[in-house]
Amino acid sequence: MSTAVRRAAEILRAGGLVAFPTETVYGLGADASSAAAVARLYAAKGRPADHPVIVHFDSAEKAFAWGREIPDAARKLAARYWPGPLTLIVRRSARAQDFVTGGQDSVGLRVPSHPVAQDLLREFGGGVAAPSANRFGKLSPTTAAHVREEMKVELVLDGGASEVGIESTIVDLTSGVVLLRPGRISREEIEKQLDVKVKSPDASAPRHSGGLERHYAPKTPALLVPPHALDAEIAKRGADVAVLAFSRPDERVDYWIRMPREPRAYAQRLYAVLRELDGAGCGAILVESPPETAAWDAIRDRLSRATG
Ligand code: TXA
Ligand code: MG
Repeated sequence: MSTAVRRAAEILRAGGLVAFPTETVYGLGADASSAAAVARLYAAKGRPADHPVIVHFDSAEKAFAWGREIPDAARKLAARYWPGPLTLIVRRSARAQDFVTGGQDSVGLRVPSHPVAQDLLREFGGGVAAPSANRFGKLSPTTAAHVREEMKVELVLDGGASEVGIESTIVDLTSGVVLLRPGRISREEIEKQLDVKVKSPDASAPRHSGGLERHYAPKTPALLVPPHALDAEIAKRGADVAVLAFSRPDERVDYWIRMPREPRAYAQRLYAVLRELDGAGCGAILVESPPETAAWDAIRDRLSRATG
Protein backbone atom coordinates (compact mmCIF):
# COMPACT_ATOMS: atom_id res chain seq x y z
CA MET A 1 0.00 0.00 0.00
CA SER A 2 1.56 3.31 -1.09
CA THR A 3 1.51 6.48 1.01
CA ALA A 4 -0.42 8.19 -1.81
CA VAL A 5 -3.20 5.60 -1.49
CA ARG A 6 -3.27 6.07 2.28
CA ARG A 7 -3.54 9.80 1.85
CA ALA A 8 -6.29 9.32 -0.74
CA ALA A 9 -8.32 7.22 1.70
CA GLU A 10 -7.90 9.93 4.36
CA ILE A 11 -9.13 12.58 1.94
CA LEU A 12 -12.19 10.44 1.17
CA ARG A 13 -12.88 9.96 4.88
CA ALA A 14 -12.70 13.72 5.37
CA GLY A 15 -15.35 14.23 2.67
CA GLY A 16 -12.92 15.28 -0.08
CA LEU A 17 -12.48 14.18 -3.68
CA VAL A 18 -9.79 11.93 -5.14
CA ALA A 19 -9.24 10.96 -8.78
CA PHE A 20 -8.09 7.37 -9.24
CA PRO A 21 -7.33 4.95 -12.08
CA THR A 22 -9.59 2.09 -13.01
CA GLU A 23 -9.14 -0.42 -15.82
CA THR A 24 -11.85 1.39 -17.85
CA VAL A 25 -11.29 5.14 -17.34
CA TYR A 26 -10.21 7.38 -14.44
CA GLY A 27 -12.87 8.02 -11.81
CA LEU A 28 -13.50 10.99 -9.53
CA GLY A 29 -14.26 9.48 -6.14
CA ALA A 30 -16.20 10.60 -3.08
CA ASP A 31 -17.50 8.85 0.04
CA ALA A 32 -20.79 7.39 -1.25
CA SER A 33 -22.39 7.55 2.20
CA SER A 34 -21.79 11.27 2.62
CA ALA A 35 -24.30 13.69 1.10
CA ALA A 36 -21.83 16.58 1.39
CA ALA A 37 -19.02 14.66 -0.33
CA VAL A 38 -21.27 13.59 -3.20
CA ALA A 39 -22.56 17.17 -3.57
CA ARG A 40 -18.92 18.29 -3.93
CA LEU A 41 -18.45 15.60 -6.58
CA TYR A 42 -21.40 16.81 -8.65
CA ALA A 43 -20.18 20.39 -8.39
CA ALA A 44 -16.66 19.45 -9.55
CA LYS A 45 -18.06 17.61 -12.56
CA GLY A 46 -20.69 20.22 -13.37
CA ARG A 47 -23.18 17.39 -13.43
CA PRO A 48 -26.94 17.74 -12.77
CA ALA A 49 -27.68 16.56 -9.21
CA ASP A 50 -30.48 14.16 -10.18
CA HIS A 51 -28.17 11.86 -12.17
CA PRO A 52 -27.31 8.56 -10.47
CA VAL A 53 -23.67 7.69 -9.87
CA ILE A 54 -21.93 4.28 -9.75
CA VAL A 55 -20.72 3.09 -6.32
CA HIS A 56 -17.39 1.22 -6.25
CA PHE A 57 -16.27 -1.46 -3.79
CA ASP A 58 -13.35 -3.82 -3.28
CA SER A 59 -15.58 -6.91 -3.16
CA ALA A 60 -18.92 -8.25 -4.42
CA GLU A 61 -20.00 -8.93 -0.84
CA LYS A 62 -19.70 -5.26 0.12
CA ALA A 63 -21.25 -4.16 -3.16
CA PHE A 64 -24.36 -6.31 -2.79
CA ALA A 65 -24.96 -4.98 0.74
CA TRP A 66 -25.95 -1.74 -1.03
CA GLY A 67 -28.62 -3.64 -2.99
CA ARG A 68 -31.63 -5.79 -2.10
CA GLU A 69 -33.42 -8.75 -3.72
CA ILE A 70 -30.18 -9.41 -5.64
CA PRO A 71 -31.19 -11.63 -8.58
CA ASP A 72 -29.25 -14.82 -9.38
CA ALA A 73 -28.23 -13.27 -12.68
CA ALA A 74 -26.44 -10.47 -10.81
CA ARG A 75 -24.56 -12.95 -8.64
CA LYS A 76 -23.59 -14.99 -11.68
CA LEU A 77 -22.26 -11.97 -13.55
CA ALA A 78 -20.41 -10.75 -10.46
CA ALA A 79 -18.82 -14.17 -9.94
CA ARG A 80 -17.68 -14.24 -13.55
CA TYR A 81 -16.61 -10.62 -14.19
CA TRP A 82 -15.80 -8.90 -10.86
CA PRO A 83 -13.34 -7.46 -10.30
CA GLY A 84 -13.65 -6.09 -13.82
CA PRO A 85 -15.24 -3.62 -16.26
CA LEU A 86 -18.89 -4.35 -15.42
CA THR A 87 -21.50 -2.27 -13.57
CA LEU A 88 -24.65 -3.95 -12.26
CA ILE A 89 -27.88 -2.03 -11.58
CA VAL A 90 -29.96 -3.67 -8.85
CA ARG A 91 -32.67 -2.55 -6.42
CA ARG A 92 -31.13 -0.46 -3.67
CA SER A 93 -30.86 -1.07 0.04
CA ALA A 94 -31.11 1.72 2.64
CA ARG A 95 -27.34 2.32 2.31
CA ALA A 96 -27.76 3.69 -1.19
CA GLN A 97 -29.36 7.04 -0.46
CA ASP A 98 -31.17 9.36 -2.85
CA PHE A 99 -28.06 11.46 -3.47
CA VAL A 100 -26.26 8.51 -5.15
CA THR A 101 -29.27 6.96 -6.88
CA GLY A 102 -30.72 10.18 -8.23
CA GLY A 103 -33.85 9.34 -6.23
CA GLN A 104 -34.39 6.09 -8.12
CA ASP A 105 -35.07 2.77 -6.39
CA SER A 106 -31.95 1.23 -7.97
CA VAL A 107 -28.20 1.57 -7.50
CA GLY A 108 -25.23 1.01 -9.80
CA LEU A 109 -22.52 -1.23 -8.31
CA ARG A 110 -19.03 -1.93 -9.58
CA VAL A 111 -15.90 -3.74 -8.37
CA PRO A 112 -12.99 -2.49 -10.48
CA SER A 113 -9.89 -4.62 -11.07
CA HIS A 114 -7.18 -1.96 -11.34
CA PRO A 115 -4.70 -2.65 -8.51
CA VAL A 116 -4.59 1.01 -7.41
CA ALA A 117 -8.40 1.18 -7.34
CA GLN A 118 -8.47 -2.08 -5.37
CA ASP A 119 -5.93 -0.74 -2.88
CA LEU A 120 -7.82 2.50 -2.41
CA LEU A 121 -11.19 0.79 -1.98
CA ARG A 122 -9.75 -1.71 0.49
CA GLU A 123 -8.02 1.02 2.48
CA PHE A 124 -11.14 3.22 2.51
CA GLY A 125 -13.39 0.27 3.31
CA GLY A 126 -16.74 1.72 2.22
CA GLY A 127 -18.45 2.54 -1.07
CA VAL A 128 -16.87 5.17 -3.31
CA ALA A 129 -19.17 7.09 -5.63
CA ALA A 130 -17.22 7.66 -8.84
CA PRO A 131 -18.26 8.98 -12.20
CA SER A 132 -15.61 9.37 -14.88
CA ALA A 133 -13.24 12.20 -13.88
CA ASN A 134 -14.23 14.61 -16.65
CA ARG A 135 -16.48 17.65 -16.80
CA PHE A 136 -20.08 16.66 -17.60
CA GLY A 137 -20.54 15.71 -21.26
CA LYS A 138 -16.83 15.71 -22.08
CA LEU A 139 -14.48 12.86 -23.01
CA SER A 140 -13.59 10.44 -20.23
CA PRO A 141 -9.96 10.59 -19.04
CA THR A 142 -7.75 7.54 -19.51
CA THR A 143 -4.58 8.97 -17.93
CA ALA A 144 -3.79 11.02 -14.81
CA ALA A 145 -2.66 13.90 -17.08
CA HIS A 146 -6.10 14.02 -18.76
CA VAL A 147 -7.69 14.45 -15.34
CA ARG A 148 -5.33 17.28 -14.36
CA GLU A 149 -5.96 19.09 -17.66
CA GLU A 150 -9.66 19.06 -17.02
CA MET A 151 -10.21 19.78 -13.34
CA LYS A 152 -8.61 20.76 -10.07
CA VAL A 153 -8.57 17.80 -7.68
CA GLU A 154 -6.69 17.64 -4.40
CA LEU A 155 -5.11 14.31 -5.33
CA VAL A 156 -4.88 12.34 -8.57
CA LEU A 157 -3.57 8.80 -8.11
CA ASP A 158 -1.53 7.84 -11.15
CA GLY A 159 -1.99 4.26 -12.33
CA GLY A 160 -0.85 4.62 -15.92
CA ALA A 161 -3.05 4.53 -19.01
CA SER A 162 -6.36 2.70 -18.51
CA GLU A 163 -6.23 -0.70 -20.16
CA VAL A 164 -9.83 -0.96 -21.42
CA GLY A 165 -10.11 2.71 -22.40
CA ILE A 166 -13.92 3.00 -22.50
CA GLU A 167 -16.40 2.97 -19.62
CA SER A 168 -17.75 -0.22 -18.05
CA THR A 169 -20.56 -2.27 -19.55
CA ILE A 170 -23.75 -1.45 -17.60
CA VAL A 171 -26.36 -4.18 -17.11
CA ASP A 172 -29.67 -3.35 -15.46
CA LEU A 173 -31.07 -6.35 -13.57
CA THR A 174 -34.06 -4.67 -11.93
CA SER A 175 -36.46 -6.19 -14.47
CA GLY A 176 -35.02 -8.81 -16.76
CA VAL A 177 -31.55 -8.24 -18.18
CA VAL A 178 -31.09 -4.92 -19.99
CA LEU A 179 -27.86 -3.64 -21.54
CA LEU A 180 -27.75 0.10 -20.66
CA ARG A 181 -24.24 0.78 -21.93
CA PRO A 182 -22.12 -1.54 -24.11
CA GLY A 183 -18.47 -2.02 -23.15
CA ARG A 184 -15.56 -4.46 -23.20
CA ILE A 185 -17.81 -7.20 -21.82
CA SER A 186 -20.18 -7.79 -24.73
CA ARG A 187 -23.89 -8.54 -25.01
CA GLU A 188 -23.01 -11.95 -26.50
CA GLU A 189 -20.80 -12.86 -23.54
CA ILE A 190 -23.53 -11.91 -21.07
CA GLU A 191 -26.14 -13.88 -23.02
CA LYS A 192 -23.84 -16.91 -22.99
CA GLN A 193 -23.16 -16.61 -19.25
CA LEU A 194 -26.82 -16.25 -18.31
CA ASP A 195 -28.45 -18.18 -21.15
CA VAL A 196 -31.04 -15.42 -21.62
CA LYS A 197 -31.77 -12.81 -24.26
CA VAL A 198 -30.32 -9.44 -23.22
CA LYS A 199 -32.76 -6.60 -23.92
CA SER A 200 -32.01 -3.07 -25.07
CA PRO A 201 -33.29 -0.12 -23.04
CA ASP A 202 -36.74 1.20 -23.95
CA ALA A 203 -38.40 4.51 -23.09
CA SER A 204 -39.07 3.32 -19.52
CA ALA A 205 -35.37 2.68 -18.86
CA PRO A 206 -33.94 4.48 -15.83
CA ARG A 207 -32.29 7.85 -16.34
CA HIS A 208 -28.73 7.39 -17.38
CA SER A 209 -26.55 10.23 -18.58
CA GLY A 210 -24.52 7.98 -20.86
CA GLY A 211 -27.81 7.63 -22.70
CA LEU A 212 -27.99 11.31 -23.64
CA GLU A 213 -27.62 11.86 -27.38
CA ARG A 214 -24.48 13.97 -27.32
CA HIS A 215 -22.06 12.86 -24.65
CA TYR A 216 -18.41 11.86 -24.52
CA ALA A 217 -17.88 14.71 -26.96
CA PRO A 218 -14.82 16.59 -28.21
CA LYS A 219 -15.11 20.40 -28.64
CA THR A 220 -14.32 20.26 -32.35
CA PRO A 221 -17.28 19.13 -34.47
CA ALA A 222 -16.71 15.46 -35.26
CA LEU A 223 -18.39 13.35 -37.88
CA LEU A 224 -18.49 9.69 -38.84
CA VAL A 225 -17.59 8.99 -42.44
CA PRO A 226 -17.97 5.60 -44.15
CA PRO A 227 -14.65 4.26 -45.54
CA HIS A 228 -15.70 4.75 -49.19
CA ALA A 229 -16.66 8.41 -48.57
CA LEU A 230 -13.52 9.47 -46.70
CA ASP A 231 -11.59 10.53 -49.79
CA ALA A 232 -14.41 12.74 -51.10
CA GLU A 233 -14.98 14.29 -47.66
CA ILE A 234 -11.30 15.27 -47.43
CA ALA A 235 -11.34 16.64 -50.98
CA LYS A 236 -14.39 18.75 -50.07
CA ARG A 237 -13.00 20.15 -46.79
CA GLY A 238 -9.34 20.59 -47.65
CA ALA A 239 -6.54 20.61 -45.08
CA ASP A 240 -8.63 21.98 -42.20
CA VAL A 241 -9.55 18.52 -40.87
CA ALA A 242 -8.11 16.02 -38.42
CA VAL A 243 -8.66 12.38 -39.33
CA LEU A 244 -9.00 9.17 -37.36
CA ALA A 245 -8.86 6.26 -39.77
CA PHE A 246 -7.80 2.67 -40.38
CA SER A 247 -6.03 3.50 -43.60
CA ARG A 248 -2.65 5.11 -44.21
CA PRO A 249 -2.30 8.91 -43.86
CA ASP A 250 -3.36 11.04 -46.80
CA GLU A 251 -0.82 13.73 -47.60
CA ARG A 252 -3.52 16.41 -47.98
CA VAL A 253 -4.18 16.18 -44.22
CA ASP A 254 -1.77 17.31 -41.45
CA TYR A 255 -3.40 15.59 -38.50
CA TRP A 256 -4.02 11.93 -39.19
CA ILE A 257 -4.07 9.14 -36.64
CA ARG A 258 -4.09 5.58 -37.87
CA MET A 259 -6.12 3.24 -35.65
CA PRO A 260 -5.79 -0.51 -35.07
CA ARG A 261 -8.27 -2.84 -36.78
CA GLU A 262 -8.67 -4.80 -33.55
CA PRO A 263 -11.53 -3.43 -31.38
CA ARG A 264 -9.86 -3.82 -27.96
CA ALA A 265 -6.74 -2.01 -29.08
CA TYR A 266 -8.92 0.65 -30.75
CA ALA A 267 -10.97 1.21 -27.58
CA GLN A 268 -7.86 1.48 -25.44
CA ARG A 269 -6.64 4.46 -27.48
CA LEU A 270 -9.97 6.05 -28.47
CA TYR A 271 -10.40 8.86 -25.92
CA ALA A 272 -6.71 9.78 -25.88
CA VAL A 273 -6.61 10.20 -29.66
CA LEU A 274 -9.89 12.12 -29.76
CA ARG A 275 -8.38 14.50 -27.17
CA GLU A 276 -5.26 14.83 -29.25
CA LEU A 277 -7.17 15.58 -32.46
CA ASP A 278 -9.45 17.95 -30.54
CA GLY A 279 -6.32 19.89 -29.56
CA ALA A 280 -5.18 20.19 -33.19
CA GLY A 281 -7.51 23.15 -33.63
CA CYS A 282 -8.95 21.98 -36.94
CA GLY A 283 -12.40 22.85 -38.24
CA ALA A 284 -13.60 19.26 -38.01
CA ILE A 285 -12.62 15.76 -36.96
CA LEU A 286 -13.44 13.04 -39.48
CA VAL A 287 -13.74 9.55 -38.05
CA GLU A 288 -13.75 6.60 -40.43
CA SER A 289 -16.68 4.43 -39.32
CA PRO A 290 -15.70 1.07 -37.85
CA PRO A 291 -17.17 -2.25 -39.02
CA GLU A 292 -20.86 -2.96 -38.34
CA THR A 293 -20.06 -6.19 -36.47
CA ALA A 294 -20.95 -6.94 -32.81
CA ALA A 295 -17.29 -6.77 -31.74
CA TRP A 296 -17.40 -3.02 -32.49
CA ASP A 297 -20.72 -2.28 -30.68
CA ALA A 298 -19.21 -0.38 -27.75
CA ILE A 299 -16.93 1.67 -29.99
CA ARG A 300 -19.76 2.54 -32.39
CA ASP A 301 -21.81 3.60 -29.34
CA ARG A 302 -19.09 6.00 -28.08
CA LEU A 303 -18.33 7.30 -31.58
CA SER A 304 -21.96 7.96 -32.37
CA ARG A 305 -22.23 10.04 -29.17
CA ALA A 306 -18.95 11.84 -29.81
CA THR A 307 -20.14 12.75 -33.28
CA GLY A 308 -23.71 13.48 -32.02
O1 TXA B 1 -16.19 2.54 -16.20
C1 TXA B 1 -16.96 3.19 -15.50
O2 TXA B 1 -18.12 2.80 -15.24
C2 TXA B 1 -16.43 4.52 -14.93
C3 TXA B 1 -15.36 4.20 -13.88
C4 TXA B 1 -14.87 5.43 -13.18
O3 TXA B 1 -15.86 3.25 -12.97
N1 TXA B 1 -17.51 5.28 -14.37
C5 TXA B 1 -18.45 5.87 -15.14
O4 TXA B 1 -19.34 6.64 -14.42
O5 TXA B 1 -18.49 5.76 -16.35
P1 TXA B 1 -20.28 7.72 -15.09
O6 TXA B 1 -20.99 8.36 -13.95
O7 TXA B 1 -19.51 8.60 -15.97
O8 TXA B 1 -21.31 6.87 -15.86
C6 TXA B 1 -22.16 6.03 -15.14
C7 TXA B 1 -23.46 5.80 -15.84
C8 TXA B 1 -24.25 7.07 -15.98
O9 TXA B 1 -24.76 7.14 -17.29
C9 TXA B 1 -25.34 6.89 -14.94
O10 TXA B 1 -26.50 7.59 -15.27
C10 TXA B 1 -25.52 5.39 -14.94
O11 TXA B 1 -24.23 4.91 -15.05
N2 TXA B 1 -26.10 4.92 -13.68
C11 TXA B 1 -25.58 4.95 -12.46
N3 TXA B 1 -26.44 4.48 -11.54
C12 TXA B 1 -27.56 4.13 -12.22
C13 TXA B 1 -28.83 3.61 -11.86
N4 TXA B 1 -29.16 3.35 -10.60
N5 TXA B 1 -29.71 3.39 -12.84
C14 TXA B 1 -29.40 3.66 -14.13
N6 TXA B 1 -28.24 4.17 -14.53
C15 TXA B 1 -27.33 4.40 -13.60
MG1 MG C 1 -18.95 9.67 -17.64
